[in-house]
Amino acid sequence: MIPVSEPLLDERVLSNVEEAVRTGWISSEGRFIAEFERRWAAYCGVSHGVAVCNGTVALEVAMVALALPPGSEVILPSFTIISCVAAVLRAGCRPVLVDCEPDTWCLDVAEVARKITEKTRAVMAVHMYGHMADMEPLMELARKFGLVVIEDAAEAHGGEYRGRRAGGIGTIGCFSFYANKIVTTGEGGMVVTDDAKLAERARSLRNLCFRREQRFLHTELGYNFRMTNIQAAIGLAQIERIDEHLLRKRRMASCYDERLRHVRELSLPTERPGVKNVYWMYGIVLADALPFDAATFAARLKERGVDTRPFFLGMHEQPVLRNLSLFAGEIFPVTERLARRGLYLPSGLGLGEKDIDAVCAAVRGCL
Ligand SMILES: Cc1ncc(COP(=O)(O)O)c(C=O)c1O
Repeated sequence: MIPVSEPLLDERVLSNVEEAVRTGWISSEGRFIAEFERRWAAYCGVSHGVAVCNGTVALEVAMVALALPPGSEVILPSFTIISCVAAVLRAGCRPVLVDCEPDTWCLDVAEVARKITEKTRAVMAVHMYGHMADMEPLMELARKFGLVVIEDAAEAHGGEYRGRRAGGIGTIGCFSFYANKIVTTGEGGMVVTDDAKLAERARSLRNLCFRREQRFLHTELGYNFRMTNIQAAIGLAQIERIDEHLLRKRRMASCYDERLRHVRELSLPTERPGVKNVYWMYGIVLADALPFDAATFAARLKERGVDTRPFFLGMHEQPVLRNLSLFAGEIFPVTERLARRGLYLPSGLGLGEKDIDAVCAAVRGCL
């Protein structure tokens, strides 16, 4: 079976982890944490990084740190992972969905403009499968209406929009470092921002809102969302190889492009001018004319030894959210189509050209 993803871990990861273990710094203090935060924030082009234990809680910490008035509306794409809506709800805000663009699969900024009301306080842009959302018009809207912008850059490490890195453009950026991400810490996440006060709030929320002067006197309820020094040890070794990881992803994408470009029944990932797609996962979308959907196609590929993953199912189609009386009667045609006709092919960092040949032969065979 050709796996859909696998991490690339080297000797440096081992020696860093060994150092953490040998020195006894295995919880959330130690030299790797501060260094990982500093290096990742600098890589994103901002001043502050706050490491947390996964990408889902990075979004939650970011939302709670922003301290938006209860009931504030936060606009976000329906086509995303549930972590995004969960963070909005857990911060006491109301999620307002928009559809996504059919080619980049990121939120449609024109629709964001149409959904702004007097209660809107924020927009969450999710950079999908490696391609960044259209940040310039989005930031312009945000300036015009006084909105904060949360970037979910979990899937776009190192992605660029007109020379600026994913996560470093909005008010606050969130990352996941799960094992399938371009930079991994096993499990892990980070919040990055240029706003010192916001970073301080995120830092405090991550660590139970302990106070410097009187540790066990609390004026706010926090969380234990700390990252361990062992995770940061892995992450630091990974940052050192990010350029190589990005090169591998882009090479993988051009290999797939070459082999699948002429297959009329498929749409392939795009790269808009001025954007650097990092092709975190190589997604394909089946033409409507095909008499089967992505789930059937994935099952057939599995029979031929190729592992895949389905695209996200829209938030407006989630029973758990519908049961909260959210999004009743809402329709997002692009999201619905992607959910039924989209899947991603093996995209691991260790994938070789021969694997890609085999995957593409299987894809053609199944079509
Ligand atoms: C866009 C996006 N946001 C957030 C997350 C959540 O990250 P984690 O799995 O680390 O909680 C993911 C997970 O893969 C993701 O793809």
